[in-house]
Order: sequence, then structure tokens, then C-alpha cells
Amino acid sequence: MKIVTVVGARPQFIKMAPVSRELKKVGIEEVVVHTGQHYDYEMNQIFFEQLNISEPDYYLGVGSGSHGYQTGEMLKRVEEVLKKENPDLVLVYGDTNSTLAGALAAVKLHIKVAHVEAGLRSFDKKMPEEVNRVLTDHISDYLFAPTETAVKNLHNEGIMQGVYLTGDVMYDALLYNIDIARKNSRILKELGLNRKEYILATVHRAENTNNRKNLESIIGAFIESGELIVFPVHPRTRKYLKSYGLIEKIKKSENILLIRPVGYLDMLILEENSNKIITDSGGVQKEAYFLKVPCITLRERTEWVETVEDGWNILVGTDKERIIWAIHEFKPSGDTYSYKFGEGNASKKIAKLLRGELYEQS
Ligand code: UD1
Ligand code: UDP
Repeated sequence: MKIVTVVGARPQFIKMAPVSRELKKVGIEEVVVHTGQHYDYEMNQIFFEQLNISEPDYYLGVGSGSHGYQTGEMLKRVEEVLKKENPDLVLVYGDTNSTLAGALAAVKLHIKVAHVEAGLRSFDKKMPEEVNRVLTDHISDYLFAPTETAVKNLHNEGIMQGVYLTGDVMYDALLYNIDIARKNSRILKELGLNRKEYILATVHRAENTNNRKNLESIIGAFIESGELIVFPVHPRTRKYLKSYGLIEKIKKSENILLIRPVGYLDMLILEENSNKIITDSGGVQKEAYFLKVPCITLRERTEWVETVEDGWNILVGTDKERIIWAIHEFKPSGDTYSYKFGEGNASKKIAKLLRGELYEQS
């Protein structure tokens, strides 16, 4: 009984960590394939070190490129591995190009596919992630949905078979690591930060970075807000900040602390101790909610609607004045907290379900 896991991007290393641990416990053999989508030390290796994930069995080294190039190269190279390994099932996570390539390579070889974080929708097909999710869901045999909303989305698209409401594996990851982070992280000291006296920001969505007007507006809001903003910069964003001449502007401002991407443990500590979080990341929106930190989302829609419904997250898009208003004024609307992301045992449920299904097959 053998599973091939295909991962390649930062959030996938975090999502796979608790699931791999549980797969081991139920005696499933896991072969890990890393597409190479993310490769910088801070986007890649640091997560394997901190989260105790075993080194990938295959590193495909695809690297960066256009969507077609990247997904196509991954498809070719994952296929080669699958032909060699002949697994019972391929496991993919989230909505990146690595997710789609892994699922597509498998289904073409008649290998079953399981999708963790199935059923998320932004209903915006211009987002590459939305296309990846929809296609992956429609070729998956097992769909592990983190929320009831995700289950409903799948049902609305006619996907009824193989859908399981498991809860969110990112919640599992956070619960497992938060005490470890509290004990080991020195990031507040290193950066000279005081608890609840700074805002944490991350920006990396293509629609915010590859668009000069949007990125200028976001950075303009950060600077004009006058608040201390700690900003771990994704390599995509650094590239565009440089090419739009915004790095100089940031350096001249006195309130933005631009840092390299940080490891997961430092990130949890930066999140937990921030006064507010500003982000366009899916994972960071959820972590803000799990840690009960108010979140300002630099998008017009979110897949994680529960965080908004509960009043902890506000969608402001990229309008400068709206962002500045939210930085100063946004407060969660009360004490609502509906715990809609499971009980922190999603990974356990997934491993047990897979073991059951795989036993049935063999
Ligand atoms: C990808 C995912 C996105 C996810 C994000 C997590 C897709 C379509 N997008 O976006 O859903 O939210 O990962 O972080 O799969 N780069 C480096 N070093 C690296 C990685 C990237 O310099 O280690 C730079 C390259 O210039 C590259 C750019 O960042 O072209 C974008 O990387 P890519 O993996 O294509 O997309 P992300 O923006 O990271
Ligand atoms: N993250 C991290 N270091 C950083 C920024 C993010 O460890 O400098 C973690 C974050 O805590 C979350 C995950 O990366 O667990 C989110 O990934 P990202 O924002 O890259 O992608 P998304 O979730 O939007 O797909």
C-alpha cells in the first residue's frame, strides 16, 4: 500500500507535515515528490527542517516559469516518477500548479487521486489558483474538504462521491507547532518588536504584485498609515517591488520593516503577537483567525468566508483609502467564533479514511 505525495510550494510543506505524520502512524508508505516550484532556502528547505518532514524522495527541479511551462514540465516529470513507483494513490494539496500537475499526471495513468483542501472557491477564474482547484477537484476520487462551505461548493458542481468533511489540516499544523514556536522562536527579540505594537503584512497574489497600480496602492497605504508594519517579502513580490521602484520608497519610509520570508515557527510568533494582520494569503487569513488576530485582506473575495462571517476578517481589496481606514479602524465585530475548521484532527481523519479506502482496494 503506497501513496505518492506531490508538493512544491511553501504552504504545501506546512499542510503535508501533519498528514505525513498520521500516514506513518497508520502504516501507509509515502513517497514524497517535490516539484521544485519553490526552491529558495526560506521558501523550501527551512520548512523541511522545522517541521520534521522527511526529505523528498524525488526532487524534480522544475523551478519558476510561465504557467504553461511550469505545469507542463511538472506533468512530464511527475509522470515519470508515477510510472516507476506505481502507487495506489496520489495525494495533492491546495491549489498551486504543483497540485494540478500531480493530479493530472495521476489520473491520466488511472491512478486514484486524493485532494486535501478540496472544494475551496473564490468564483474568480482569473485567479490561477481557482482554475487549479476546480480542475483538481473534478479529477479527484477522494475530496477532503476543510469546511462545510467547501462541501457545499463541491455538491453544487455535482461532485457527490468521495467527499469527506475532515476539517482543516492547517489548523492541525498550527495546534501542533504553536507551543514549539513559543518556546523556540527569537524573532520578536531579533527584530526589536513589542507584543501588539506592530502590524504584520504579507503580499504575494499575482493580481496584487503583477499589477503596478495595485502594488503601489498597497505600499502607499502601508507608508501613509504611519503604523509599524513588519513585512516578510515573498520573492515574487520583491521582484515587482524592485521593478516598480518601490523598494527605495519603502527604505525612505520609517515605518516599514522589510524582511526576508521567515520560517513557519517565526511566522506563527509574528502572527500571534501582531496587533493586526494585512494579507492576501489564504493560509495567513486562516492563521489570523485561529490566533484571534484581526485580519485585513487585500482582496475583494475570499475562499475562507467563515473568517469574514465571524467578523475577524475584512475584505478591502487594493484601494489605498480603504486599506488605511481598516488599519486604523477595523475591529472584530464581537466575540463570535464559530470553530468551523474542525477540531485539529483533520490529518488523523484523512489518514484513517485513506487506510480504509486503500484496504478496500487491495
Ligand atoms: C504559488 C502559487 C500560489 C501560492 C504561493 C504560495 C501557483 C499558480 N501559485 O505562487 O497559489 O499561494 O505559491 O507561496 O502555483 N520565486 C523565487 N524563489 C522561489 C520561488 C519563487 O525567487 O523559491 C520567484 C520567481 O521569480 C517566480 C515567482 O517567485 O517566478 C513566483 O513563484 P511561483 O511559484 O510561480 O508562484 P507564487 O507566487 O509563489
Ligand atoms: N508563511 C511562512 N513564512 C512567511 C510567510 C508565510 O512560514 O514569511 C506561512 C504562513 O504562516 C502560512 C503559509 O506560509 O502557513 C501561507 O503560505 P502563502 O502565504 O505563501 O500561500 P497561500 O496560503 O496564500 O497559498
